Amino acid sequence: MSGPAEGPLRGRELLGIELDILRYPDPILKKPTEPVTAFDDELAGFVEKLYASMRVHDGVGLAAPQVGVLRKVAVVEYEGKSYTLINPRVLEKRGEQEAEEGCLSFPGIYALVKRPEWVKVETQDLKGQTRVYEAEGFVARAFLHEMDHLDGHLFIDYLSPLKRGAIRKKMTKQARGTSMAEPARRPRRR
Ligand code: NI
Repeated sequence: MSGPAEGPLRGRELLGIELDILRYPDPILKKPTEPVTAFDDELAGFVEKLYASMRVHDGVGLAAPQVGVLRKVAVVEYEGKSYTLINPRVLEKRGEQEAEEGCLSFPGIYALVKRPEWVKVETQDLKGQTRVYEAEGFVARAFLHEMDHLDGHLFIDYLSPLKRGAIRKKMTKQARGTSMAEPARRPRRR
């Protein structure tokens, strides 16, 4: 999930391990993911890269499919607290909240989305130990947004077909703009 639409950029330094974030309408974002079965150094390294990629883009959450990896892994970081979500599932949810939501795969796009106000989530940590988090408000929203990514669901799926269509159009145009602009930036060879 992206940070608030307005607010100071934190300006993180690049570590050189950041991964490219896929943008909608990349078809990978709609694919289901596989559970994590090996809790090894490779997993720890991948999680570290996810955190680095999220921070450099001023996000508050990032899920593995957004970097092209179809595994049930996501990270959330808010107000100095980090939450690593591996094979997460919702145990309980309560209430309702509505707030503006964004996503690192949809730069500059925000929309009002209704979510439960409170959730209890069971997840595993880097060692495969079971952990239970209870979250409300913004963190609950971030957990649910990232867990949706692990099922190939996106925040625009909650919007009306009309709004979703407008965002798809905008993002498709953006994607085309990027691919057309790139060759022009390359130095000419003669
Ligand atoms: Ni997202």
